[in-house]
Amino acid sequence: QRPEGLDVHARIALDLGERGWSLCEDFLPPLLVSQLLSEARELWQGGGFRPAGVGRGQKFEVRPEVRNDWVRWLDARACSGAQQLYLNALEALRLALNRQLYLGLFEYEGHLAVYRPGSYYRKHLDRFEGSGLRTLSCILYLNSGWHYADGGQLRIYTDPDNPERYREVLPFGGRLVCFYSDRFLHQVMPARRSRFSITGWFKQRT
Ligand code: OGA
Ligand code: MN
Repeated sequence: QRPEGLDVHARIALDLGERGWSLCEDFLPPLLVSQLLSEARELWQGGGFRPAGVGRGQKFEVRPEVRNDWVRWLDARACSGAQQLYLNALEALRLALNRQLYLGLFEYEGHLAVYRPGSYYRKHLDRFEGSGLRTLSCILYLNSGWHYADGGQLRIYTDPDNPERYREVLPFGGRLVCFYSDRFLHQVMPARRSRFSITGWFKQRT
């Protein structure tokens, strides 16, 4: 039995240690989540997103048959106050995980993402060759009033030996889901409403 009253970071660390992924409700206060959502909507309406791609650098390609969401990378030097608060919360998480799990996470990169109605991201792994190894994937969902019928679940394949076994996470605002980037195939099921999130990765040095 896990002790009651563990703080958020300790709970996430315990989940990661036990099964490699974690789901945390209300990682941020609801007001901050709704601020992040309205800023994301405004950036979207202002044309501030680009079609997402796969691969990095020379290998970057837009492949709408694989994923057809739109993204806008976060820039820590030019972000909003609300985005900065999220980055601060992630920094505190990074330090706690390094202390408890010796992960040696050193840097974060992340983007806003929007899945328009009908959009998806097919089954994939997040790790690829590049500047630093993506080690821990962290996704914060921003929508309020999301229902099962709105689709857009994140499906995490929890057993590498059995593709029938998966958990589905609905993108409820304030939820943070984390998992080891090299261990879990996952996919985003088609959304039926615009689905907003901030997706990012903590990296280890290569
Ligand atoms: C990704 C991804 C999952 C989600 O951007 O790599 O898998 O739930 N996102 O948005
Ligand atoms: Mn992914």
